[in-house]
Amino acid sequence: MVHRCFVIALLVFGVWSSGAMARAIGDAPVQAKFEQWMAKYGRLYMDATEQERRFQIFKDNYEYIESVNRAGNLTYRLGLNHFADMTDEEFKSSHLRAQVNSKRPKSTTGSFRYANLNNLPNSVNWITSGAVTNAKSQGACGSCWAFTAVAAIEGITQIKTGNLMSLAPQQLVDCDNDSRGCDFGYPGSAFSYVISNGGIASEVDYPYKGVVGNCEANKYLSASIDGWEMVPLNNETALMQAVANQPVSVPFCPDGETLRWYSSGLYKGPCGDCATHAMTVVGYGIYEDHDPGTEYWILKNSWSEDWGDKGFMYIERNVGLPKGLCGIAGNPLYPTKKA
Ligand SMILES: *[C@@H]1O[C@H](CO)[C@@H](O)[C@H](O)[C@H]1NC(C)=O
Ligand SMILES: *[C@@H]1O[C@H](CO)[C@@H](O)[C@H](O)[C@H]1NC(C)=O
Ligand SMILES: *[C@@H]1O[C@H](CO)[C@@H](O)[C@H](O)[C@H]1NC(C)=O
Repeated sequence: MVHRCFVIALLVFGVWSSGAMARAIGDAPVQAKFEQWMAKYGRLYMDATEQERRFQIFKDNYEYIESVNRAGNLTYRLGLNHFADMTDEEFKSSHLRAQVNSKRPKSTTGSFRYANLNNLPNSVNWITSGAVTNAKSQGACGSCWAFTAVAAIEGITQIKTGNLMSLAPQQLVDCDNDSRGCDFGYPGSAFSYVISNGGIASEVDYPYKGVVGNCEANKYLSASIDGWEMVPLNNETALMQAVANQPVSVPFCPDGETLRWYSSGLYKGPCGDCATHAMTVVGYGIYEDHDPGTEYWILKNSWSEDWGDKGFMYIERNVGLPKGLCGIAGNPLYPTKKA
């Protein structure tokens, strides 16, 4: 499955006819919010007209978020984040491009090593176990496939060696020739590149730029893997067997408008276009206090720590759909590593 990542691209704005825009009197509190938000995210606009235009977009987004939260009938909350001055069109523009059908790389072993595991723990959290780095940011580049591959490699490396190290998605963006940099890519071909290259550099040694650059092959390699495997398709039980053992790369079918504001709680949809995004499952569990008995997955995203719950989200597990909620059981993959 190709992951045509859901990216954030601020477009070049065409001619914007200027003209005095009357400021509604009731805007003052939202204007103050906007100014706080601009300061927080270091936003500067090219002129007052553009700033006014961005304010109106911000205001629409702010009112949408507030109205959904006020209705109070969702199991999750929305919040303002670094996307707040973008229109839906701008936000979605990158994932509404035509789908590309392409080969799906073959796993190196063809087997699923966790198939016979029973008596799985009721909950697993690789974040608190120390196998997950902070959420990274793909920026305006469709490189979610590289970020989820890196998160899965960071996970198995920590589990096998005890060392948690932030690894370099930029190396995959530059060097995995079976993927297409900032356009789209495959976690499986990223794993295959890392195997054939003998390893992957750290984030410190090969920092993220968010644009495709020359493959810098002479970097020190900080981590390596031996192979990768596929979890049986459309089977959340099998996904649980895999996640009980390590973080797993999964596709995600996002609905742009709601997902982009997710800030906390249990996501139950809506979902949208498949093969437009990918994330990493880093745990699962069952709620005991609120929503007792409801099962969840913990996902790591690559939209920075400002999105979601410090960059992570909780979504409902075992929803009775073969592909799982938002398609996450559709094509899960994980790298393998000897001790
Ligand atoms: C929440 O309430 C709004 C407004 O009443 C309604 O449009 C929406 O469908 C409800 N959502 C859910 C998940 O029930
Ligand atoms: C799901 O995968 C497990 C092995 O991991 C297998 O035992 C089970 O039969 C599969 N379920 C379905 C519905 O295919
Ligand atoms: C990818 O292609 C470029 C250009 O042909 C080449 O320089 C580079 O070595 C290739 N990378 C790998 C890992 O094969």
